[in-house]
Amino acid sequence: MKILGIETSFDETGVAIVENGETILSQTLASSASLHKKYGGVVPEIAARKQVELMIPVLTETLNEISPQSIDAIAVTIGPGLIGSLLVGVETAKTLAMVWNKPIIPVNHIHAHIYANFLMSDKKEVISEKKKDKKLITSHVSPITFPAIALIVSGGHTELFYMETEKQLKWIGGTVDDAAGECFDKIARLIGLESGGGPALAAEATKFKIHLPANATHQALQAGDSKFNIQLPRPMMHDGSFNFSFSGLKTALMRELKTHTEELPTFNFQLTTYLAHEAQEAITDVLVHKTLKAAQNYEAKSILLGGGVAANEKLREKFQIHDSKFQILAPLAALCTDNAAVVAACAYFLNEPIPWSEVTAQPNLSIE
Ligand code: KG4
Ligand code: ZN
Repeated sequence: MKILGIETSFDETGVAIVENGETILSQTLASSASLHKKYGGVVPEIAARKQVELMIPVLTETLNEISPQSIDAIAVTIGPGLIGSLLVGVETAKTLAMVWNKPIIPVNHIHAHIYANFLMSDKKEVISEKKKDKKLITSHVSPITFPAIALIVSGGHTELFYMETEKQLKWIGGTVDDAAGECFDKIARLIGLESGGGPALAAEATKFKIHLPANATHQALQAGDSKFNIQLPRPMMHDGSFNFSFSGLKTALMRELKTHTEELPTFNFQLTTYLAHEAQEAITDVLVHKTLKAAQNYEAKSILLGGGVAANEKLREKFQIHDSKFQILAPLAALCTDNAAVVAACAYFLNEPIPWSEVTAQPNLSIE
């Protein structure tokens, strides 16, 4: 079964054709990210206008060698997301469904992130079972075993789902305030990494190791040098729930920055690096701890990661190091962030077609 997926919930314009929820036959992704840089965040009006412009070229490029007759259904993200952006995708999908006489399948953007793990690729990583031994497999070689826990960490969401099977999702917890990606983005800006967000913070954090003297431990550095004597909280890590809270991390970091203002002219470079490192440690510690706890609690066999923050190397590395009991799957980085292939995959496994007249953009669509 070939499904054409459309994704326009935020600043991306994506179209993909996926066979049987697994094989990406064709996909095109365009972003308006560069247009928003000077504003310090995505401007909804600019994003939607650009999506109107980009939709036909992206669609044409994706269909290049695939005939519309061979497509079995159209899938589209209906929410959550920006209303103007969602409308572009939804109206395009409805038009195609009507003109081509195909069924239309509405998809929840957050659920779609989970199904990145079902997309087949010879580079798909399984980062568990043997510690530090990254095995490259396809889903044919090693199918995902259920029950599973899915951790979806994006710019707007931090959610845990229990999956009894590939077709059954149950939401078990999520953030009570900022999302993990939002926290990465805000802290990146706070420490002076202006527009790069999470990926920039992650890149800065990797320099921390470079600055460590060869024989120094992290603890020794913290104890011995006041400028590095900063420990951010790990919010709600041991509270027993499957919820998260990340807004306090930003406040704690602001407090630390005030305390260390006088050192900044001298130590700016190293302090920025250290803060990036410590913030990344704090966020990833909480995400890994809670996800493993959920997996133990629900007697899961697998853990699936998804969403932009799942591209974070430190997060992936920590799951790899901490665990040996669960099959842990992390999609390729390019499939963690927003794209249309996951929309088509999600439609195949999870959702049913509905009449096109009932398909509406829902910016506040619930994830439960
Ligand atoms: O899933 P996504 O592409 O869009 C949303 O649905 O929100 O996620 C975007 C988020 C941003 O907050 C971005 O900073 C974060 O994912 N992100 C990362 C990394 N790559 C993307 N955060 C930390 N480390 C990364 N490598
Ligand atoms: Zn997303």
